[in-house]
Amino acid sequence: MNTNFFTISTIIKNRRTIKPFMMNGKKIADEQINELFALADWAPTHGLTEPWRFVVYADPSAFCNEHAEMYKRDTDAESFAQGVYDNLAHQGDKASHVIIAVMRRGDLPKIQAFEELAATACAVNNILLGATALNMASYWGTGGMILKPAMKAFLQLRDEDEVIGVLYLGYADEHPQGIRRVPLTDKVKWM
Ligand SMILES: Cc1cc2nc3c(=O)[nH]c(=O)nc-3n(C[C@H](O)[C@H](O)[C@H](O)COP(=O)(O)O)c2cc1C
Repeated sequence: MNTNFFTISTIIKNRRTIKPFMMNGKKIADEQINELFALADWAPTHGLTEPWRFVVYADPSAFCNEHAEMYKRDTDAESFAQGVYDNLAHQGDKASHVIIAVMRRGDLPKIQAFEELAATACAVNNILLGATALNMASYWGTGGMILKPAMKAFLQLRDEDEVIGVLYLGYADEHPQGIRRVPLTDKVKWM
């Protein structure tokens, strides 16, 4: 097999969601995080709008505490659950870095919003694949307040911008097997 193909196949197949509570607390060097952003920056982009933006926390608790407080502020007293608050506040306890990935809408009218979402998702996947190649654990989540207007306001995004998700990066001692439920043959139609 072609060596490049073998290498990239191995990385793609080894990338698995590892939730932050499965991480082991070991820290990633900030320089390596910057190397991952350099990979993100080479995602495909229609019209060169390069819509991906990233907000990074080298201290996950700074983000997680804010996330939990945001949940509290945005939830009425009857719906508020202390367990949810605690989960959000402690989600990153064993992670190394938290990255919020954002699609910043460009100003080329011919480029549709979904194209810029797609480009940003590709940039995110470049980060996840780079992280896998560096033996890191990674998780892409949209739970909690991540997709809520309060998060957009916190990040000072405009209406047309979108949060794509939050990435937790770290290291883990165990790497799970992947699961796919729908056979590939059901997803591909050769004409
Ligand atoms: C856009 C997006 C949002 C996701 N949000 C969540 C989430 O909120 N909670 C969660 O447990 N997993 C989330 N995931 C991770 C998926 O559950 C995970 O990718 C899926 O189980 C497949 O596992 P794999 O990544 O190991 O292939 C998200 C994945 C994507 C692509």
